[in-house]
Amino acid sequence: MVVIEASILSADFARLGEQARQAEVAGVDAIQVDIMDGRFVPVITFGPGVVRALRPLVSVPLDVHLMIVAPERHLEAFADAGADRLIVHQEACPHFHRVLQRIHELEIEAGVAINPGTPLSVLEEVLDLTDLIQVMTVNPGWGGQPFLHSQLDKIRRLRRMLDERGLDTPIAVDGGIDPTTAPLVVSAGATVLIAGSSIYNCYASVTENVAALRASVGREM
Ligand code: DX5
Repeated sequence: MVVIEASILSADFARLGEQARQAEVAGVDAIQVDIMDGRFVPVITFGPGVVRALRPLVSVPLDVHLMIVAPERHLEAFADAGADRLIVHQEACPHFHRVLQRIHELEIEAGVAINPGTPLSVLEEVLDLTDLIQVMTVNPGWGGQPFLHSQLDKIRRLRRMLDERGLDTPIAVDGGIDPTTAPLVVSAGATVLIAGSSIYNCYASVTENVAALRASVGREM
């Protein structure tokens, strides 16, 4: 089963609630909220308040992608705001193992994101604490960037790494995911597609875009 998450980074910020609802009605399985602090990535987006505002408006899970430095300072605030999963970047966590432990203490899921230049080896000591691994298929910071095909081999190697350990940890991909790249990443072993600009754009409706993404990976997957 392929999971589709709508990233609200490319949504109309003046209508975030409505756009999140549109994605839910269109059949996405979760909403990904891109938190950016202007330091870990150049852009600033939003904080726990937006998660709290969205929480009552949608019933699908809220995945909060923390593209911020020192995420350990904000875990409680996002969990309290209604996050179902917190996704932290290994690159932002000197005390990586402890951050993931803390997320589990908050009784929500812990996801790990790794940038295109980060090797899989950084995951080896925390796989038992990781509920989802998010392979960035762009360098994070903006929506609408071109997909990095170099990450396909990384996705395949990660799937092998997990299978060898008997782990069914889902692999998410984030960045440049659209009906053209989605089949490629699913064939490589990803089962969670995070899509922003291919869902929220001026070319088609949210419903049409989600349907196209779903169709691109087939119903049986
Ligand atoms: C990092 C963000 C984006 C966003 C998806 O920049 O995490 O990847 O979620 O952006 P699109 O789908 O427009 O590439």
